[in-house]
Amino acid sequence: MSTNSARNLFIFGSLLCFIILVVLTIDTMGKLDQRAPEITEKINAGKKVWHKYDCIGCHTILGNGSYFAPDMTKATERKPKEYLKKFILNPRVIRPNAAMPKLGLSEKEADDLIAFLDWISKVDTNGWPPKPILASAITSKTTSYGQILFQKHDCSACHQINGVGGTAGPELTYVGRKITDAEWHIKHLKNPESAVPDSAMPNFDQLSDEELRELAEFLITLK
Ligand code: HEC
Ligand code: HEC
Repeated sequence: MSTNSARNLFIFGSLLCFIILVVLTIDTMGKLDQRAPEITEKINAGKKVWHKYDCIGCHTILGNGSYFAPDMTKATERKPKEYLKKFILNPRVIRPNAAMPKLGLSEKEADDLIAFLDWISKVDTNGWPPKPILASAITSKTTSYGQILFQKHDCSACHQINGVGGTAGPELTYVGRKITDAEWHIKHLKNPESAVPDSAMPNFDQLSDEELRELAEFLITLK
């Protein structure tokens, strides 16, 4: 190779690499802006509340924090906002033996905080952290329609049966011994607060009467 063509190769090679770098940088910068919704005053205030009460001393968020308590990155995607607010204001209203202390937030602080957590939940994190494996709660070999509804409506996000499921609500493995009345379940599912004062369970009033009955019949078999 002559000195001349070596020089040309060097100049054009460098130029090409530089152009590719610039194009990729512009492309990335454009995408970064779309990865999170716009930040409002309320979200900003919520972030300050998050710092004020040192939530990160126990929880992780976007990969930072302590591993003492559940991750908060996708909190509002996994649990209804009403539930989260009640929990943050007073954890023991929801779980009598909650390890999280009552931190003494005001109503406004709790609302701002939920707005902040909701914003974080909407940040595109490329699927991280992985969703918990909400394995189906299998109680017997015969699968009833009620049990299918239990899985379809993700009841196990909050309830355990035979050790499988979340812990935001009571364990249901033996709930059929405690509550034997299908009518009670139907009323409770439609509007939990009508059966249990201050219940933090979401309403399932979008289900048809027939579905509610199937679900209730399934619940009373859990003994
Ligand atoms: C001293 C440690 C500690 C601090 C500080 C703390 N938490 Fe918690 N939090 C926990 C633990 C532990 C749990 C798991 C449930 C339980 O046993 O209380 C929890 C549960 C939660 C839940 C319910 C999660 C679910 O899926 O049911 C929310 C929401 C929550 N914390 C938000 C917050 C926010 C917001 C702050 C700051 C204002 C905060 N926590 C501060 C320890 C803490
Ligand atoms: C976001 C969390 C959450 C989801 C989802 C949820 N629950 Fe609950 N559930 C709770 C909480 C909290 C309680 C305790 C307060 C109450 O009894 O209403 C509860 C209570 C119950 C009880 C009464 C248990 C007892 O021992 O008193 C039953 C039965 C029940 N849920 C069934 C269901 C079914 C069926 C589904 C799905 C269709 C479901 N839950 C979905 C949170 C949840």
